[in-house]
Amino acid sequence: MKTLLVTGSSGLIGSEVCLYFSRNGYRIHGIDNNQRAVFFGPQGDTRWNQQRLISQLPHFEHHEIDIRDRQGVLALVRELQPSAIVHTAAQPSHDRAAAIPFDDFDTNAGGTLNLLEAARQGCPESPFVHMSTNKVYGDAPNRIPLAELHTRWDYADPAYAHGIPETFTIDQSKHSLFGASKVAADVMVQEYGRYFNLPTCCLRGGCLTGPNHSGVELHGFLSYLVKCNLIGREYKIFGYKGKQVRDNIHSEDVARFMANFCEAPRAGAVYNLGGGKANSCSILEAFQIVESLTGKPQEYVYTDENRAGDHICYYSDLRKMKADYPNWDITISLPDTIAQIVEAWKTRAQGGA
Ligand SMILES: NC(=O)c1ccc[n+]([C@@H]2O[C@H](COP(=O)([O-])OP(=O)(O)OC[C@H]3O[C@@H](n4cnc5c(N)ncnc54)[C@H](O)[C@@H]3O)[C@@H](O)[C@H]2O)c1
Repeated sequence: MKTLLVTGSSGLIGSEVCLYFSRNGYRIHGIDNNQRAVFFGPQGDTRWNQQRLISQLPHFEHHEIDIRDRQGVLALVRELQPSAIVHTAAQPSHDRAAAIPFDDFDTNAGGTLNLLEAARQGCPESPFVHMSTNKVYGDAPNRIPLAELHTRWDYADPAYAHGIPETFTIDQSKHSLFGASKVAADVMVQEYGRYFNLPTCCLRGGCLTGPNHSGVELHGFLSYLVKCNLIGREYKIFGYKGKQVRDNIHSEDVARFMANFCEAPRAGAVYNLGGGKANSCSILEAFQIVESLTGKPQEYVYTDENRAGDHICYYSDLRKMKADYPNWDITISLPDTIAQIVEAWKTRAQGGA
């Protein structure tokens, strides 16, 4: 039986990866220490998701390891020699990073290096998929001329009609400390591919979402926005008139791409992974979709000050992924994704997982 090692297995992406690969016959080993609850407080707790995996998956083993624990990570990878590694554990919020710079860098950059080196020593042939982020581009996308439409911003430069490509600069822009620690990890993952010829891949995520996100104000905007709508809490918009655009991808489509990569890996690959233009929306547009599903008005306040380094308009150019992996495409539309998030929050409010 093939084995998969997933870091951040109790998180949004990690848990979806566990479920997806388990359905495809893998034995799953998950690493997670519920650090999300340390980063974000009880609202970010992911133990419920850990329990869900333990109860639902026939071949799942949880490892309570901190990825900053170099010896612990090395020992586990040497022992398991997994057929593939998917690395999703991270401090994922750019706003939070400024308050906890050492925890952020040690987790995102140091933790990734620990895993890469463990892979090189323990299973150099196994595909290594790393969840990177579109924040590696810093705020450079904000330099693209924009058109202001009724409910959203869009690129006015036709060169970006399909979105942001992987060749876009990651240099000389404001990233937030989170973006900078993720750049370090991203470049290191590429380097282990190029220098050591390990089958590594960086996926520079747009907004990754889905029903299993423990969305909080500082991370997981769609999940948090839906939660606010359902409980009647004010959602706070930070600048850009609420017309800032994000491309949203369901976590299952993310996991499916990872499986495609693991079947036909390349060394040092980089892809922008988001919902693309078709699954993009502004905050104002997201309000409309959620309201149409729940029948409840979205309460919100607006503040003129945008988040530091926040993108005004971002959607991923998916053409490289589709060219390299023609069997992969987005299968879950934005309204369907939001509908699933609505149902998930309702279920959790009733005490179910
Ligand atoms: N969700 C998004 O919109 C988005 C967008 C772009 C990139 N990403 C990236 O995708 C990855 C996964 O994101 P997510 O939304 O699933 O995050 P998440 O916070 O839901 O999951 C991350 C998991 O990692 C665990 N973790 C954190 N630090 C750890 C440590 N030191 N040791 C062990 N476990 C630890 C957390 O407890 C959590 O369960 C991250 O690398 C993130 O930067 C996410």
